[in-house]
Amino acid sequence: MIAAALTVANPVLREDNIPQIVSLLTLEEKAAILVGCGSTAFDGIGRNDVGVKGSAGATHAIPRLGIPSIVFADGPAGLRIDPTREGTDKTFYCTGFPIGTMLASTWNPELVEEVGRAMGNEVLEYGVDVLLGPGVNIHRNPLCGRNFEYFSEDPLLAGFIAAAYIDGVQSNGVGTSIKHFAANNQELNRLHNDARVSERALREIYLRAFEIAVRKAQPWTLMTSYNYINGVHASESPWLLTEVLRDDWGFQGTVVTDWGGGYDTAAQIHAGNDLIQSGSDSRYHALINAVREGRLSMEDVDACVTRALQLIVKTPRFRGYSFSDAPDLEAHATVCRNAADEGMVLLKNKGALPAGPGGVTALLGVTSYSFIAGGTGSGDVHRPYVVDLQQGLSDAGFTLDAPLDEFYRGYMEDEAWRCKMIDGNNSWVIDRERPIEVVPSGLIKAAAESADRAFITFGRVFGEGKDRDLHYSYHLQDNELRLLRETAAAFHARGKKVTVILNIGGVVDMQGWQDLADAILVCWQPGEEGGHSVAATLSGEVNPSGRLPMTISKAYEYEPSAANFPRVFEDKPFNYSFYRRLEGNKKDYTVKDVDYTDYEEGIYVGYRYFGTYAPKHVAYPFGYGLSFTSFRWSEMSVDTIDESYRVTVEVKNTGKVAGKDVVELYVSAPGRDMDKPARELKAFAKTPLLQPGESCTVELFVPVESLASWDEAAGRWSLERGRYRFIAARHAADRGIRKRLTI
Ligand code: GLC
Repeated sequence: MIAAALTVANPVLREDNIPQIVSLLTLEEKAAILVGCGSTAFDGIGRNDVGVKGSAGATHAIPRLGIPSIVFADGPAGLRIDPTREGTDKTFYCTGFPIGTMLASTWNPELVEEVGRAMGNEVLEYGVDVLLGPGVNIHRNPLCGRNFEYFSEDPLLAGFIAAAYIDGVQSNGVGTSIKHFAANNQELNRLHNDARVSERALREIYLRAFEIAVRKAQPWTLMTSYNYINGVHASESPWLLTEVLRDDWGFQGTVVTDWGGGYDTAAQIHAGNDLIQSGSDSRYHALINAVREGRLSMEDVDACVTRALQLIVKTPRFRGYSFSDAPDLEAHATVCRNAADEGMVLLKNKGALPAGPGGVTALLGVTSYSFIAGGTGSGDVHRPYVVDLQQGLSDAGFTLDAPLDEFYRGYMEDEAWRCKMIDGNNSWVIDRERPIEVVPSGLIKAAAESADRAFITFGRVFGEGKDRDLHYSYHLQDNELRLLRETAAAFHARGKKVTVILNIGGVVDMQGWQDLADAILVCWQPGEEGGHSVAATLSGEVNPSGRLPMTISKAYEYEPSAANFPRVFEDKPFNYSFYRRLEGNKKDYTVKDVDYTDYEEGIYVGYRYFGTYAPKHVAYPFGYGLSFTSFRWSEMSVDTIDESYRVTVEVKNTGKVAGKDVVELYVSAPGRDMDKPARELKAFAKTPLLQPGESCTVELFVPVESLASWDEAAGRWSLERGRYRFIAARHAADRGIRKRLTI
C-alpha cells in the first residue's frame, strides 16, 4: 500500500496543464521534443517512417507524461506519403491537386479553401498531423525552380490565396506550415545563400504574404527558410521570428525549421525557432550542451517546449483520432477538377476556341500523351492516376486524327520506357527525363487535309533543389519550334486553326513563337484530372476564368532581377542546392548570386517594375486572362466603412455564354514622400458564374492601413497624404475605371 501511495502517478499532458508538464520534463526530454526523429532514409527528400511511412518528419514521444509523437508530411499540391507498404496490398495514394501557381490563377479564395478542405481531409485520414504547405515565396524571377509551388509575384494575391488554403486544411483539425519564411527565391545554394534585401522590400513584398496569411488564418506552424537574410540565418534570427513574426504580427503558432535548415541549434532556439526538423543526434546534443555550457538559457528552451506542446495538444494524434486510411479520393478528384477548371488562363484566342468535340482533331506534342500533373521534389505527390490530354479529349468525345494518334502512342511507349530507365524509381528526381519532341512531318501534312483543327501541347517540369536553365527550360527548343512551324504552315494553308496548350510549372518565353498560334491556353500543372479540365476548356464546356498571377515579359533579359539571379548551366555540376560550407560554418560571400544575392530591384518586382519603368517589355501582364464571353463594368463607387474603403463595381455578362470575371482593384499613390510603383493590387474579387445578360455587384474592401508604405528611415509604416487613384482593372496594364480620392 505504502509503495503504491509513494509512486504518485505522473500527470499526463492536457491542454490546460502545459506549464506543469514543462516543469516536470528533464533537459533531455525537452531536447527530444524540440529535435525531430531524423530522416530514416534520404532519397533526396528527408523521409521519415515514424508514424506514417514516407512522411517527412516526426517529433519524439515522451510516454511517461502522455506526450505523443506527431507527424509532418509534405506538400503544397497534396499529401505526400508512400503509396504502398510492405505486407499489405492496400494503397495509400493521395489526390494530386493543381500546383500553387494554378490555385493562385483561379483568383478564387473560396475555391482554394475547398481544395484545402479536401487536402486536409487526406492529411487527417492518413494519420498525419501537419501538412508542410502552403508555399508562399514570391516569384522574384521566372527561373526559380520552385516557383510552381508558390503563388504569385504579388504578395496580396499570394497572402489571400494562402489564407484560404490554410483555413481549408485546418478546418479538418490538422495543421499547416506556411513556408519558407523568408526570401527563399532561388534554389541554387539555397542552404547557404544570403538574400540581401532592403527592409522595405522585405516588409512590403517578401514578408507580406506571410503577414496577411498569419493575421487572417493563423497557420498552426510556420517553416523558416534555408537561406540567410542580410547575413543572419532565417532560423536563427530573433528579429524575424520574435520581433516581426510574434511581436508585430501576433503569430500564435509554432516555428519549425526547414529539413536540416540552419546551423547553430542554440541560436535557433534563442531566436524562437521551436522545432528542429528533421532532427539528428548532433543537433540533440548541441542543444543539451549549449544549456549545460550556459550558451542557451533554460527559459528560451522552455518557451519553445511550451509552443511545441501547444501544437501537440491540437493534433489528431494527441486527441486519439482513429484515422481511416481511406479518404474519399473520388470526391476529392472532383474538387481537383473544379480548381483546375478555374485556374486555366486563356492568353490568346483568334477564332480558334471553343472547338469540338465534333469533327476531327489533330493532337500533337509528346506532352499531350504524357501530361505533367505537378513539379518535382518535396512538392510532388504520389497520385492514383494522371489524365493526359489524349485521354481527356477522347473521354470528352473528341475524335482524334487516327494516323497521328497511332504514331504518338507507339512512340510514347518507347519513350516512357526510356525515361523510366533514366529516372529509375527515385521520386526525388529533379531533372525528370521528358519524352523527346519529334516532328512527324508527313503525318502533319496528311492531318492538315483530314482534320479540322490542331492542338499542340508543350510541357515544362522542374522542381526543388535546382533553378531552371534559361536556354533549355525557359525557351522553346528547336524541335518544338519546328513542330509548331510545320503544323501552323500546313493548317493555316487550309484556313484551319492551331491551338497551343502550355502544360508548364512557370513562365516560358512567348515572343519566339506566339504569332504562329491562333490560341494559347496555359493549363499550368493541373493535377491528376488535368486532361479532363483542358478538354472541357477547349470544347467550351468550361469557360476559362483564370488570370495570370505573374507578369510574362517579352524577354528574360527584361526581368528586373535578371542581373541578380544565378545562371544555371546544364553542363556545370554546380547547379544544385548543395551549399558551400566553409570550415566551422563560416559564411563566405565571395560568389555573386551563389553565396549572396542582391535584391537590387527592391520592391520593383513583376508588375510593380514593368508598370512603372518598362510597360513595353510586357508580353502578357499580371492579372491577364481571356474568356469566351465578354463583361462590362460600370457604376464604380467608393465609400468608407470603419477603417476601410468599400469599392463596388457592377459587372454584366454581355456575351453569349455563362462565365466568371475577376475585378482587380489597384491603387496609385501620390508618390511624393517616397517612390511608389505606378500601381499596386489592394483587393480583388471573382464573380459567381454569370449567365448571359446577368449582372452582379462586386464589393471590395481596402483597409486604409494597407495603403501605407514602409518608411525605412523611420522604421515604421507610413501613410502618405494626398490624392490617390483607385483603379478597377482587368489586369495590371489595363487603364480600367477610376476614382480619385484624397487621404
Ligand atoms: C525540403 C523543402 C521543404 C519540405 C521539407 C520536408 O527540403 O525545402 O519545402 O517541406 O524539406 O520535405
